[in-house]
Amino acid sequence: MDAGALKNEALGAIEAASTPGELDELRVRYLGRKSELKQALRAVRDRETGMALNEARVAIEDAVDVRQSSLERAELDRNLTQDVVDVTLPGEELPLGGLHPITQVRRIVEDAFLGLGYEVRDDREVETVEYNFDKLAFAPTHSARSSRDTFFFDDTHVLRTETSPSQIHVLEEKAPPIYMVSIGRVYRRDAITATRYPIFHQFEGLAVDKSLTLADLKGTLLHVMRALYGPERRVRFRTHFFPFTEPSIEPDVSCGICGGEGCRTCKYSGWIEMGGAGMVDPRVFENVGLDPEEWSGFAFGCGLERAAQLRHDVPDIRVLWEGDLRALRQF
Ligand code: PHE
Repeated sequence: MDAGALKNEALGAIEAASTPGELDELRVRYLGRKSELKQALRAVRDRETGMALNEARVAIEDAVDVRQSSLERAELDRNLTQDVVDVTLPGEELPLGGLHPITQVRRIVEDAFLGLGYEVRDDREVETVEYNFDKLAFAPTHSARSSRDTFFFDDTHVLRTETSPSQIHVLEEKAPPIYMVSIGRVYRRDAITATRYPIFHQFEGLAVDKSLTLADLKGTLLHVMRALYGPERRVRFRTHFFPFTEPSIEPDVSCGICGGEGCRTCKYSGWIEMGGAGMVDPRVFENVGLDPEEWSGFAFGCGLERAAQLRHDVPDIRVLWEGDLRALRQF
């Protein structure tokens, strides 16, 4: 068969192919290794026949491509018009992760303080006795220094028992004015109960500037408590003692569950204890080489577990540490 006749036959058949499968068979028949065309090409002796055969090959290849895309397009059109999608069918549920309640309150606290222009930091969990106790003016006989209360690695290293060492770190790193909040894990040798866990989180605030007062501390705590518990919350101070603040106070926030009326959560007092705070003790300033006559400051430390428990009304702290998704999914 000569090249022109072969080409015409092939093009006619390709044009008539009505399915991709049929087209594929034609491709093999006319262009495959054993096709008449390929055999003729292998046997070719003169230039003219070769050119004619090649021209036929290119034309057949092009025709296959063109037919293939038009068959595919037709198939797609058919699918689009015939396959009906029921948009009212329920979708497939994808498992979605959520933020742990501790992470949620951590972010609220971070946002509240970033809004006040505070620097947010997270210091080391393994501390030296010097930073965890000495520079914070803990008395040599203070009970927290005992290995019954604190996890010791050796004589000089502990798992920090509070975030307060951050105060010393930031005071040594930079000159005042300082406005920082440090958030992270702390450790105490407590037995696990519904209200205590040997590891928990605190956020620690420190502000050092000229002529700061207890009123500034109160306003700052009010700001973060309202961010955590709502705009109606009030804050009150009770006197207390901490080695590194003077005067020291314990802040209470008015109970958000009963609005201060008294309920199970606030033990019928209308108030909930939030942690510790106070004005920076002059000895702390001296320990980091600052003049207590020139600088004043306030500090506070509060637990994140407490905040998460109050926000979600979680009676047992263990829920926050056990990672049981059946419980955590509720938050
Ligand atoms: N570090 C104290 C505690 O864990 C809380 C505190 C922080 C008190 C800052 C005063 C100032 O109990």
